[in-house]
Amino acid sequence: MPETGQFVPGLEGVVAVQTKLSHVDGQKGKLIIGGYSIEELAGKVSFEEAADLLWMGALPAAEDAEALRKELAALRTIRPETLELIKIARHSPPIDALRMACSTLSLDLSKPNDISPAADLAVAKRLTARFPTVVAAHARLRQGHEPIPPRADLGMAANFLYMVFGEVPHPAVAKALDTYWTTVIDHGMNASTFAARVIASTRSDMVSAVTGAVGALKGPLHGGAPGPVLDMLVDIQSADRAEAWLKNELAEGRRIMGFGHRVYKVRDPRAEVLAQTAEVLAGADLRNRKLYDLARSVEKTALHVLDEHKPGRNLKTNVEFYTALVLQSAGLVPDQFVAMFACGRVAGWCAHVMEQHSQDRLIRPQSQYLGPQGLSISR
Ligand code: ACO
Repeated sequence: MPETGQFVPGLEGVVAVQTKLSHVDGQKGKLIIGGYSIEELAGKVSFEEAADLLWMGALPAAEDAEALRKELAALRTIRPETLELIKIARHSPPIDALRMACSTLSLDLSKPNDISPAADLAVAKRLTARFPTVVAAHARLRQGHEPIPPRADLGMAANFLYMVFGEVPHPAVAKALDTYWTTVIDHGMNASTFAARVIASTRSDMVSAVTGAVGALKGPLHGGAPGPVLDMLVDIQSADRAEAWLKNELAEGRRIMGFGHRVYKVRDPRAEVLAQTAEVLAGADLRNRKLYDLARSVEKTALHVLDEHKPGRNLKTNVEFYTALVLQSAGLVPDQFVAMFACGRVAGWCAHVMEQHSQDRLIRPQSQYLGPQGLSISR
C-alpha cells in the first residue's frame, strides 16, 4: 500500500474504491462479474440479463428475463435532436459521434440532475438501450443511407445488427455479439470506469459521467486497440511473415496492439472466451477461418517476441486481440470497434455511477508539485 503523500505513477496498485461489481485477479487470470466468473456468464445469459446483474445485484429470474428484454427494447428509439447531431457528425469516427450523441441522451429526462437510485436506474436503462441505436444510425448515415428504426421484438445484439444491415442476422452472429458485450461489460477500476466514477463522485449526473467515460475509452491504450489489431493481421498477411513484422514494430518503438495489460500478468481470461466465439463464427466462412488461423499463429509468435523484448514483463494476450476477429466476423469495420466496446461497457459504467452515488465520497487525489516557487513579478 502506498503511504499518504507518496507519488504512484499511473496510480498502479492504488485501491481507490470498494466495489461489489467486478473483480480482476491479474495473477491468476480471473475475472468475476457480480459473483460469476466470466466463463460462467458470457454466452450463458443474455447481455440484458448481465446488465441487470450489475444494476440489481442478482440475475433476473428466468420468468422476468423477457420482461426485462421488452423494457429495454422499448427504450431504444433516440430523439430527432440526437439523430440530427449524428447526421452532422457522420464523417467523424463512430466513437466521437457516440460521445457527442451521448451528451444529448439527457434531453428527454424530466429531472436530468436527479441522482437518486431510482433515477439512476432509469437512466442506466436508457443509455444502455440507446447506445447501439446511435452507433447503428451513424453506420447508416455515413454510407448515405437512412437510419433503420429499432425493432422491439429482437434482442439487443440482433436488433443492433438489424439496424446496421437491414436484415435480421443469423442467430450465431447475434449470439457472438451478445457474448462479446457480456464479456466486456465490466472490468474493475479500468481507466474509463474510473473516469466515470470521478465525475459521479462530484454528485454530477450519470449522463455526464458516461460521456466522460466514452472519451476515456477511445484511447488506443484502452479500448481503441482492436481496430489496429485487425490492421496488423491484414498487414502481416501470412504466419511466416509475423516474426519479422512484429520485431520491426518493436524496433520502431511501437507497441504490439492486443498484448500487455496493467493488471493481468497472465493471459486475459476474456481473450479465451472471445477466441472461442471467433472460432465458432469462423467455422463455416473460409475468409474468417483463414483470419482466425492467422490470428492464432500471430498470437503465439507475438508472445515469444514480446518475451524476448521485455523479459519478465509478462506481456500476454489481452481482450482486444480476439475482439477484432469477433467484430470483423459480424461485418463491422475497424473504426467501429471501440464504439462497439462502449455499447457493452456502458452497462458497467452506469452500475459504477450508481455505486459511486450511493457511496457519496468525492474522489480527489493530490499532485506532487515539480514547478518553480518564489517567482516575483518585476514589472
Ligand atoms: N507491446 C510492446 N511493448 C509493450 C506492450 C506492447 N503491447 N505493452 C507494454 N509494453 C512495454 C512498455 O513499452 C514498457 O516498456 P518500458 O518499461 O521500456 O517503457 C513496459 O512494457 C511496461 O509497460 P507499461 O506501459 O508500464 O505497462 P502498462 O501497465 O502501463 O500498459 C497497456 C498496459 C497500456 C495495455 C500496454 O500493455 C499497451 O500499450 N498495450 C498495447 C495496447 C492494447 O492492447 N491496449 C488494450 C488494453 S486492454 C483494455 O484496455 C480493454
